[in-house]
Amino acid sequence: MSVYSRILGTGSYLPEKVLTNKDLEQIVDTSDEWIRERTGIRQRHVVIDGESCCDLAERAARRAIESAGLVPTEIDLIVVATTTPDQIFPSTACLLQQRLGIHGCPAFDVQAVCTGFVYALAIADKFIRAGTSRCALVVGSETLSRILNWQDRGTCVLFGDGAGAVVVGAAEEAGILSTHLHADGAYKDLLQVPRGIGSGSCDGDPYMEMRGNEVFKVAVTTLGRIVDETLEANGMQQSDIDWLIPHQANIRIIQATARKLHLPMEQVVVTVGDHGNTSAASIPLALDTAIRDGRIRRGETLLMEAFGGGFTWGSVLARY
Ligand code: ACO
Repeated sequence: MSVYSRILGTGSYLPEKVLTNKDLEQIVDTSDEWIRERTGIRQRHVVIDGESCCDLAERAARRAIESAGLVPTEIDLIVVATTTPDQIFPSTACLLQQRLGIHGCPAFDVQAVCTGFVYALAIADKFIRAGTSRCALVVGSETLSRILNWQDRGTCVLFGDGAGAVVVGAAEEAGILSTHLHADGAYKDLLQVPRGIGSGSCDGDPYMEMRGNEVFKVAVTTLGRIVDETLEANGMQQSDIDWLIPHQANIRIIQATARKLHLPMEQVVVTVGDHGNTSAASIPLALDTAIRDGRIRRGETLLMEAFGGGFTWGSVLARY
């Protein structure tokens, strides 16, 4: 009998400190009105001194494991999607594994920027389908506030910190119906943090740089294509989708994808207003929100899609 993976539980966590658009007016030349109109963002959560990516990941992970009705030691694979690991190594997944008191199972990070969670979930699905794992913890956790230039109004108003997690387990019925992953490094210069240690010293600017307008245009067309690819691979119509759970970057990009699916905004989970773009954390944050408030119910069909630095992009189609 075929083995599939299925979402067993979800969890999320946002740091307590909130920065509103009004707060940002004190820091850069911007306005609440501009940010809301161009992005849909009202506020973002940010870590305080001493609070780390792994701290956020641990809280989200514990909530997801609890909602799955499991204990941490039942987890046999940990994949963490992050662009802002606590250290160069060990991976945040290994740090999280230690915090959760789990020993021996594979644990590793995935770096695909805003598409990180989609990549991580696709990898976990493949481990489970291959029979290598039975119960995987997949986390998206980010402290993007640490890599923002707080003098650059073109980026600092867009991003926030947070974490989301899912537990996926082996099941006889799908679960995750299909996953679709892509990347094209030809676009590397449009969205990047140029700092690296590859040359032997810490060269370059440690903060995010983005050509926002160009990223926006590629994101809209690429996400339209990934929607088509996902539906076609499953022989589905747009009307078969119950919920769109998009990467929460910008309300206008989300609306464009919803239009492509002929999906009313009532069937789109939108949390970007509350936490801004939390990169790899944004899809599991949105998913957990809509499951906990009762909108998403068992048996419904979910389309998750994301686009991010690299460029990377991808989707997961799942029956919840
Ligand atoms: N406040 C006020 N004005 C601003 C701000 C700001 N925070 N930022 C830019 N502006 C100004 C610009 O300087 C420009 O002024 P000008 O016309 O005098 O030159 C004007 O607003 C318009 O700028 P645009 O960049 O054309 O604005 P746009 O409508 O494209 O919105 C935005 C900018 C919100 C960044 C948009 O392009 C966007 O969302 N891009 C995509 C970002 C994204 O989705 N990234 C996804 C992946 S993220 C990841 O992987 C980490």
